[in-house]
Amino acid sequence: DVAEKGGYETFMLKEIYEQPAAIKETIVDRLSDGIALSELGLTAEEARRLRRVVIVGCGTSYHAGLVGRYAIERWARVPVEMEIASEFRYRDPVLDAADLVLAITQSGETADTLAAMRLARERGARVIAVTNVMGSQATREADGVLYTRAGLEIGVAATKTFVAQVAVMLLLGLWLGEARGTLSSTERDRLITELRALPDAVRETIERVREPVRAIAEHWQSAGFFLYLGRHIGLPVCLEGALKLKEISYVPTDAYAAGEMKHGPIALLDERTPVVCVACDSPVLEKVLSNIAEVRARGAHVVAVATEGRKEVAEHAEEVIYVPRTDWMLQPIPAIVPLQLLAYEIARLRGLNVDQPRNLAKTVTVE
Ligand code: AGP
Repeated sequence: DVAEKGGYETFMLKEIYEQPAAIKETIVDRLSDGIALSELGLTAEEARRLRRVVIVGCGTSYHAGLVGRYAIERWARVPVEMEIASEFRYRDPVLDAADLVLAITQSGETADTLAAMRLARERGARVIAVTNVMGSQATREADGVLYTRAGLEIGVAATKTFVAQVAVMLLLGLWLGEARGTLSSTERDRLITELRALPDAVRETIERVREPVRAIAEHWQSAGFFLYLGRHIGLPVCLEGALKLKEISYVPTDAYAAGEMKHGPIALLDERTPVVCVACDSPVLEKVLSNIAEVRARGAHVVAVATEGRKEVAEHAEEVIYVPRTDWMLQPIPAIVPLQLLAYEIARLRGLNVDQPRNLAKTVTVE
């Protein structure tokens, strides 16, 4: 067992440390000469004619799709809808051959995602499976397959497969932008350089945040509730961080668009509430800082995740965990690392089995 875990105390921790490799394997040979995604089976001409992209997935895969939505819309200027697979399959969606459907599923066996894929194909859409498992059911039911190459993930809580999914969605966004002529080659090349630097950025993040996160976890291990707030690409990071904490530590969490806070969740705040704010670089950073000020005015305690060098975040939050700077669209990848580790440390301090949390299966093959 110890050997299987490569000297780590759990599979989840091993898999968190394997994230730089998961990203590297997923992107490296697709970046040899520009962006090569021939496995998509989509020509540049077909990419130009796309009317819409629809992404479906469940749980963590849904969160990766949310990041993908921002990247594809920004770089390829095509409308993107993101749907929870179990909702999509029953809402009689309007789809046709001008739609590209991306089904994200690390296992390739999630029942609701497979059902959504079948429905989309019946209605004439082209369906691409984004999966980590070769030969999985999703690969057999799709028109094309885009593999993440994270390696086998054993911990029930998805970690390395999430960052690999986000990385592949970023690649796809760049490829579509190039094919559709909406992204300049200078900008594409700059972003490719940033993508290549991600594995090192994640390695550095893990080393840098481990101790500060442990101290925060020790302080807040008995908190009865955590609120996560973020905006724009910070929001899927919050949703994913909140899911990690609730699934392995059983602590109630909520993740909210920070701008929506005053429409309800602000009522939950008092001096016992830790609020995790993703305040990484983005065009809405100033807005996030005002939301942090609103949280603090209610006496709650803010732990912020920010881009290195952003001293102004420290003026707003009680604690700041800094992650390395990347292009702001790529920030979800380093930013999720401290939230994974926060969930991990709290669950360990509570003496829980992080690899096999109660009631959860690694692969949900029933509806
Ligand atoms: C993630 O930590 C969860 N265990 C779960 O939400 C998971 O992401 C979901 O069941 C989807 O699985 P899939 O990617 O294999 O389709």
